[in-house]
Amino acid sequence: MRLGRSLLGRPGRNRWIRCGVGVVLAVLAAGAVLVARSPIPAGTWLRHPRASFLLAQGLNPHPVRLVRPPVAPLSAMARLGRRIFFDPSLSASGRLSCSSCHSPAHAYGPPGALPAMFGGPHLTRQGVRAVPSLMYLERQPNFSVGPDNEENETITLAQLAARGQRAPRATKTAQATAAAAANLVPQGGLFWDGRANTLQDQAMGPLLSPFEMDGGSIARVAGLLAHAPYADRFVRLFGASIFASPTMTVAEALFAVARYEIEDPAFHPYTSRYDVWLEGKARLTQAELRGYLLFNNPRKGDCAACHLDQPTPDGRPPLFTDHQYEALGVPRNPALRVNRDPAYFDLGICGPYRTDMAKDTAYCGMFLTPTLRNVATRHVFFHNGVYHSLRQVLDFYDFRDTDPGRIYPRGADGRIAKFNDLPARDRANVDRVDPPFTLRRGDRAPLSAAEERDIVAFLGALTDGYRPKPAH
Ligand code: HEC
Ligand code: HEC
Repeated sequence: MRLGRSLLGRPGRNRWIRCGVGVVLAVLAAGAVLVARSPIPAGTWLRHPRASFLLAQGLNPHPVRLVRPPVAPLSAMARLGRRIFFDPSLSASGRLSCSSCHSPAHAYGPPGALPAMFGGPHLTRQGVRAVPSLMYLERQPNFSVGPDNEENETITLAQLAARGQRAPRATKTAQATAAAAANLVPQGGLFWDGRANTLQDQAMGPLLSPFEMDGGSIARVAGLLAHAPYADRFVRLFGASIFASPTMTVAEALFAVARYEIEDPAFHPYTSRYDVWLEGKARLTQAELRGYLLFNNPRKGDCAACHLDQPTPDGRPPLFTDHQYEALGVPRNPALRVNRDPAYFDLGICGPYRTDMAKDTAYCGMFLTPTLRNVATRHVFFHNGVYHSLRQVLDFYDFRDTDPGRIYPRGADGRIAKFNDLPARDRANVDRVDPPFTLRRGDRAPLSAAEERDIVAFLGALTDGYRPKPAH
């Protein structure tokens, strides 16, 4: 386990990327000084007059052009997938479709504040994990344990703006590659534990799972598809013999759902106010700008170390995840029925829902870093749905180590039950190397209440659907 930890230990996580971000942050910090103090220090004006001026207006001093996925009409395959995605008749209850849990009105995440959704024939079986958003999975790499993935290459806004975006994807320098290679981390994959790689593989799970749509058998689902109002589309796409093989029918149906999730721009619009701000066409409020700085500051939130917020070198918008896994040690959620059994633990990568890595105990307790795009539309946070507001999430990052009594309950022995959602043997896997998790009990909390509010304000700027006002 110690070997595992030394491999995983990453005080240098993304540092080579982030020292560049520092350049732009220095400029931004100048702006923050402006915001925080009045009168404005003259030196700041002299050094970065234009940048400070723009920042004081809430504008990005280094606008970039973002490269969004091309928008094209949905293929016939994707249109079939859309019908299946919204079809409750495939579930045992007749009331649950993919969209019941992955609600289009809620960034394809859970529609309410329940920690887990109910499924099964009578919708009485509670799930075991919070429903993740289905947005922004089009760039999710496959699961692997290895060096940093390409999606994690980011660039500072100043560098990107200066390049005029003519340059192709930057080739990594030898140094950067060596740094990344030393950084062997589990990353990529779908679900909180990465147990599926493709959207197609993934969709079989909920369709048949007794806790979800509970479709029964492949034969039963294939029979329902053969009699669905859209059955003729199967014949048109796959030929008249398609319904002769139930396995083929379901495989093609799942492929169609995957095409829908990949093709429909609603799953990856990149239209948050932050995206438009990156392009220099929207303003952030002063609270949001302060939140942005705190989000990036390694001595404050350090959120951007894992929730990457800078574009890639070829101008693709940031995903707010590095696709890597971490054991954060979030508190146990007593509202989950599975947790009534004190011997039950959800260990993420090493089980129980993923079975191929059960022996890799260094990864027990690790869960995928989710995107923070549209996170303000959620009412359920973390893999076990233990929190219901962003304020609670921020308190977790702020006080997990500095004041754990605010985060964890007391055990039978009267002591604070820190990391109570992991068995004692796996608690050594919890991240203590990435700030803010390097602090100790009694240390000053890295964020004040006002700073937490600023970060929450910034997260609110990550919600899609912002339309720039027409210029006059
Ligand atoms: C009863 C609620 C429910 C239904 C219905 C449901 N899902 Fe999910 N979905 C979940 C939960 C919970 C997870 C996370 C499970 C885990 O990590 O173990 C999930 C995860 C996913 C993921 C992985 C997302 C990620 O960020 O890794 C995809 C993709 C997905 N579901 C697609 C679908 C599709 C397609 C359907 C319909 C065929 C569907 N889901 C139906 C609850 C549901
Ligand atoms: C060391 C990497 C790391 C750092 C630093 C980090 N996060 Fe996270 N974040 C994660 C992981 C991993 C999860 C999922 C953990 C889980 O569910 O067990 C997560 C989950 C979240 C969630 C819940 C999202 C959801 O859909 O449930 C929010 C919100 C969040 N982080 C915000 C922040 C903010 C704000 C900061 C800075 C104060 C921050 N994170 C710093 C790795 C990190």
